[in-house]
Amino acid sequence: MSAQPDEGRTASDAELLLEVEAVEAAYGEIHALRGIDLAVRRGQIVTLLGANGAGKTTTLKTISGLVRALSGRIRLAGRDITGLKAHEIARLGLVHVPEGRHILRGLTVEENLELGAFTVRDAATRRRRLREVYEQFPILGERRGQDGSLLSGGEQQMLAIGRALMQEPQILLLDEPSMGLAPKLVTETMGIIRRLNEGGTTILLVEQNARLALQLADYGYVLENGEIRLENSAEALRADRSIVEAYMGSG
Ligand SMILES: Nc1ncnc2c1ncn2[C@@H]1O[C@H](COP(=O)(O)OP(=O)(O)OP(=O)(O)O)[C@@H](O)[C@H]1O
Ligand SMILES: [Mg+2]
Repeated sequence: MSAQPDEGRTASDAELLLEVEAVEAAYGEIHALRGIDLAVRRGQIVTLLGANGAGKTTTLKTISGLVRALSGRIRLAGRDITGLKAHEIARLGLVHVPEGRHILRGLTVEENLELGAFTVRDAATRRRRLREVYEQFPILGERRGQDGSLLSGGEQQMLAIGRALMQEPQILLLDEPSMGLAPKLVTETMGIIRRLNEGGTTILLVEQNARLALQLADYGYVLENGEIRLENSAEALRADRSIVEAYMGSG
């Protein structure tokens, strides 16, 4: 009701950064996505929950251009990106950190990071971004000359995120960043995600650990068999008994 411009302004008023409308995708006969609708506003952390095989990874891959959408529309900051190639989408500021990290063996930590910036032509910009990643993750700076595949699981996750940050994303798509990590490192990874978000990066987060994801997120979607079964604020999802029972176990 107030006429003051910033009063009562919430994340729900922020710009729609990513819009996914009626997106379908398939692997041959397997109809993995059956019409996905979701939206991420600038500044938010949005989480995608669901059982194994529900279509979470496929949703991220379709958004980032690694899997072709059979139908539907995907927009980034209002611009239609459906059908663009993954590197074109990355250049527009949407960067995907895949499940399993994909650190390249035989390349040093620094070479892995530089791969993330291969589209950046200006060497001074690449050096600045490298410096920023090392400031954010000092351990990567200490290990810069070491083979990236020899890092611990948690360090490899930092390297995978650092590599994505080399592209200065507006929005990061993170697929199960806590997978395989010890509880302490899981907490650390969640802290990293929170800090990135506070630094201005919008995040679409896929997590098996629904409890953690809903602690971080503003909003969540629950996928089932390639469809959005329900969506709500993270707060409402945390209070939803069916979600608690289905995705949070007893812990
Ligand atoms: N490369 C592929 N070729 C064929 N089928 C695939 C491929 N990748 C995924 N699928 C199938 O598509 C469906 C959705 O898989 P997806 O990997 O998106 O699920 P998910 O929600 O990420 O699961 P998880 O929690 O196990 O990572 C599943 O039935 C899966 O078997
Ligand atoms: Mg997956």
